[in-house]
Amino acid sequence: MPSYHHEIATTFGRDGAWGTWVGRWTAEEGRHGVAIRDYLTVSRAVDPIALERARMVHMEGGFQTEYGTMLQQLAYVSFQELATRISHRNTGRASGDPTCERLLAKIAADENLHMLFYRNLLKAAFDLDPNQTMRAITDVVTTFQMPGSTIEGFTRKAMIIAHEGIYDLRLHLDDVLMPVLRQWAVFDKSDLDGDGAKARDELAAFLEKTDATAARFVERREERRARAAAMR
Ligand SMILES: [Fe+2]
Repeated sequence: MPSYHHEIATTFGRDGAWGTWVGRWTAEEGRHGVAIRDYLTVSRAVDPIALERARMVHMEGGFQTEYGTMLQQLAYVSFQELATRISHRNTGRASGDPTCERLLAKIAADENLHMLFYRNLLKAAFDLDPNQTMRAITDVVTTFQMPGSTIEGFTRKAMIIAHEGIYDLRLHLDDVLMPVLRQWAVFDKSDLDGDGAKARDELAAFLEKTDATAARFVERREERRARAAAMR
């Protein structure tokens, strides 16, 4: 949290309404972390010693955003907050524990509000400077990484999560990228030209490629599941 707070406080500033937002956002995300950790400690769903060691390593490493401009940051958090909403909801469902599911549903509802705030801001930015905003969106969508991608064993963890259908490329495209892009009506803009128009075309090509990759992933997952079921 301190690193994430630092990144958004540096980009957005801490004056006036921005400062109020940054403070409130940090407090809410901090509360999510506390609630999830309390649940894990009490339920012993994971080894608390291993969890604490991993937390120390992750926090010492800190987080640095790749996105230097406010528009890029707004685009990034619009997608990332929705991604956390989806993955928290699906984690709760997969847990098989009604308490965990309720807890994560509540957190997911907060994440949705965070997403709405950022998504609305970016929509307003589109009215002010459509070309720059379009470019920022394309830069972010084509390089998107979830926070936490630097934790130990991330690739393996991400594969397990994708295999279980908690978060995968299909969900990322259909339930995160597309709904937000549709809300911004990026492909219906008539006021794009120059680099903005170029960015929109790059985005369309990227989405098409991602759709094909997601379809292949789902196909392979079905095959793996069928094989696993046949062995039982
Ligand atoms: Fe959030």
